[in-house]
Amino acid sequence: MAEFDLVLRGGRVATAEAVVTADIGIVGEQVAAVGRDLGPGREELPLDGAIVTPGGVDSHCHIEQLAATGLRNADTFESATRAALMGGTTTVIPFAAQHRGDSLRAVVDDYHRRARRGALADYAFHMILTDPRPEVLERELPPLVRSGHSSLKVYLTYERLRVDDEQLLEVLAAARRHRCLVCVHAENHGMIAWLKRRLVARGHRAPRFHGVSHPRLGEAEAVYRVAAMSALLDQPVMIFHLSCREGVEEVRRARARGVKLFAETCTQYLLLDECETHRPGVEGAMWMCSPPLRAERDREALWRALEEGVLDCVSSDHAPYRMDETGKLARGPDAGFHEIANGLPGIELRMPLLFDAMVQGGRLDLCRFVALTCTAPARIYGLHPKKGTIVAGADADLVVWDAERTVTIAPGPRHDNAGYTPYAGRSVRGWPRLVFLRGRLVVEEGRLLAEPGSGRFLPRSGGEAAAPRGRTAAELDPERNGGARLLD
Ligand code: URP
Ligand code: ZN
Ligand code: ZN
Repeated sequence: MAEFDLVLRGGRVATAEAVVTADIGIVGEQVAAVGRDLGPGREELPLDGAIVTPGGVDSHCHIEQLAATGLRNADTFESATRAALMGGTTTVIPFAAQHRGDSLRAVVDDYHRRARRGALADYAFHMILTDPRPEVLERELPPLVRSGHSSLKVYLTYERLRVDDEQLLEVLAAARRHRCLVCVHAENHGMIAWLKRRLVARGHRAPRFHGVSHPRLGEAEAVYRVAAMSALLDQPVMIFHLSCREGVEEVRRARARGVKLFAETCTQYLLLDECETHRPGVEGAMWMCSPPLRAERDREALWRALEEGVLDCVSSDHAPYRMDETGKLARGPDAGFHEIANGLPGIELRMPLLFDAMVQGGRLDLCRFVALTCTAPARIYGLHPKKGTIVAGADADLVVWDAERTVTIAPGPRHDNAGYTPYAGRSVRGWPRLVFLRGRLVVEEGRLLAEPGSGRFLPRSGGEAAAPRGRTAAELDPERNGGARLLD
């Protein structure tokens, strides 16, 4: 009698802690055992020493998202998660994006409907708050957190999205009360708006000026400010998409002061250079994202921060816009940098690019690759150990790698809807050969086997944001504040 439904036999099984030669026994949707010489399975798959990692967890990606401009990004849940699976990512955390005046509940319901219809990978949502009015924070947020939406994103820049300092404090205080994690797009809005206006007034409209208008100092200042607010309320914060040395240094300093900051960077900030945006005409718009691509010294600082554990995870920040009138060129073929949507596609290639750069490139080992792309995001956002690792009881989300296969990334469309990839021409060694989601083979040698709607919502609670907190700086000194309970 078979003990398992499926046994993957004799792989090099990689987790964030170790790489061991072992069998993986699967029953139903879950890993039932990991070990040597497991009993028989109804099906058996010999791996002959191939590397097996957990399925990737992409904890920052924009899918079917409505921008404040009224533009919806190029992907549906179907196209984005098809691309995710093809690249070895089995769990995604996109956004349910509130705009000013919106009911948060209605927004979340709308994204759920879209995901239920299309998703092929498992998913959760961060809720973007652009209008944290009392009714949203007090009436709408608590039941949404209780139903499994335990993270928020706020922007400190973009005219129609940003929150001011006081609103950020209100959001942090609400997050503390209701036990959720606030993720922040940390760039100084005044610097960006002032620089943009001056550049445009002087006729500098080309995509490369996007980078000039988003100075490194703006990231550093915003990280410092967010860290100060986080310390004031003793409320952990995730700093999204760190792009430069100055930003990383502020994270390092804040952590040294004991501030509970998590920090993320993205594939593009590790691998792509700002000079891509210097291409003639609007071509450079294909590499325009916010924060912008930077220089060699910034990439070096980000890699060092990954090695030293200053950065916790690497996401794609997949934000796909086509190079046509439906996307980047919605304001015309001669649009200025200030009129072009920000964002790059990257959900499909994140895992292969990082496997190549980290593991094959020798910069980080296989365990760190797994930690940064799978385990840490699952832990931080409350999905671990169901997702992000290979252990008895976890979902059987697995990637079997062909570590010796070299792939040169072709120009032109991939499996998402962006119609291009910013990584064209790059060669990577290592490619996902088989991808399993909850025990089911969903990609086999480049062939997609999953159907739209087969992805599942992952309600979350806790995560690292739920760790016990101390007293806040605002409450620390009852004599001086007259004993007021400032967070009630
Ligand atoms: O350029 C980017 N990353 N666009 C997406 C929005 C964001 O701020 O993450
Ligand atoms: Zn952002
Ligand atoms: Zn983003």
